[in-house]
Amino acid sequence: MEKIKIAIAGIGNCASSLIQGLEYYGNPKNQNTPDGMMAPNIGGYTAQDIEVVAAFDVDKRKVGQTLDKAIYAKPNCTINIVEPNKFPKSKVVVQKGHILDGISEHMLNYDKYPEDTTFVVDRETPEVDVVKVLKESKADIFIDYMPVGSEEAVKFYAQCAIDAHVPFLNCIPVFIASDPKWEQKFIDAGLPLIGDDMKSQFGASILSQMLQELAFARGHKVKCHIQQNVGGNTDFLNMMNQNRLKSKKISKENVIRCQNDIRHIPTDDTFLFAGPSDYIRYYKDNKIATFHLELEGFGGSPVSFDARLSVIDSPNSAGVVIDAIRYLKVAHELGITGSLHGASAFTQKTPPFPMTFEDAEFECRELAARRLTKLTEPQAHRNKKK
Ligand SMILES: NC(=O)c1ccc[n+]([C@@H]2O[C@H](COP(=O)([O-])OP(=O)(O)OC[C@H]3O[C@@H](n4cnc5c(N)ncnc54)[C@H](O)[C@@H]3O)[C@@H](O)[C@H]2O)c1
Repeated sequence: MEKIKIAIAGIGNCASSLIQGLEYYGNPKNQNTPDGMMAPNIGGYTAQDIEVVAAFDVDKRKVGQTLDKAIYAKPNCTINIVEPNKFPKSKVVVQKGHILDGISEHMLNYDKYPEDTTFVVDRETPEVDVVKVLKESKADIFIDYMPVGSEEAVKFYAQCAIDAHVPFLNCIPVFIASDPKWEQKFIDAGLPLIGDDMKSQFGASILSQMLQELAFARGHKVKCHIQQNVGGNTDFLNMMNQNRLKSKKISKENVIRCQNDIRHIPTDDTFLFAGPSDYIRYYKDNKIATFHLELEGFGGSPVSFDARLSVIDSPNSAGVVIDAIRYLKVAHELGITGSLHGASAFTQKTPPFPMTFEDAEFECRELAARRLTKLTEPQAHRNKKK
């Protein structure tokens, strides 16, 4: 089977976990184990069918390095799924992307934040022609992993995807797939896209969603839903700049608000808070989330729920991205254009259309099944359909 070729903008912790995960699940020893993956097979595609063909970053410790080195370079601080000395040499060299608003000023204050924990911008290497690289590398999917608040950079890379005719996967809370104007641009170009802002595999957002769904399904009113998050990676450091945070808070709260909207429950009835609360360097890529819910049950009787989650943030997102890549590839092969509703609702915090977990999962399964049906259709039947 032909490989799904991916290009990535932003070789930070999430990209590192994704690329290490592809190597891990590509190893014959781990090939047949579904452990850690939601969907080992999507429309005939497994994690082994994905290969990275292009990568962009702006940090001087990553630009010019081969991927096998760049994914372990500082300030990346996630856990190793594959030890650096076991990772095979990559042919892909990280190219200099376009800086735009990708780097927050406060992160360049090295008196406050040691270089190993923050960004160091490459000011010397010229920025490459991203569209040309996407075309020449024959990328099938372009993944955006910009820091939160990179409005211009995300829009720049989204436009590059359109110009190079490559489906786009927007993992961050800048609204592209959920913005009808941007969706229309992708439809006009005959391309599908998924977004916005990854919903990790077993993270704070999916837990908040399931708690909210459960409360409603069991006839409870949700009076208050508070989700706080603390971490020590560059994602959390970047979000210390409140000006970059607006869309992240909207996106995190959307996960909960969506569930009210689906059931026509006014959100004003629920006190909502979901967002990053602090940066604590010691935690590195370990994220701690706490949940506090106050509900009203039978006859108005009060219910209170408190919980704490501890996860490694970046690998928690990588499996979801491996799924989203395959949904996008399948959709593109089937000629589907625009924002994928089911796959976006399943894998992202702010999809174009709110859905319950069950409905989103159903749509994903249907999409994958459509490719398999197409593959097994007799050739004569396929020709007749054309
Ligand atoms: N579980 C998760 O970790 C999770 C979940 C949902 C969303 N996200 C979002 O995914 C994004 C990536 O997260 P991360 O932890 O990998 O962040 P990170 O800080 O580790 O990586 C960001 C990378 O982008 C690079 N960069 C900055 N500006 C750039 C530009 N203009 N062009 C190219 N590269 C540029 C940086 O040098 C860095 O390597 C963030 O926006 C984060 O909020 C992460």
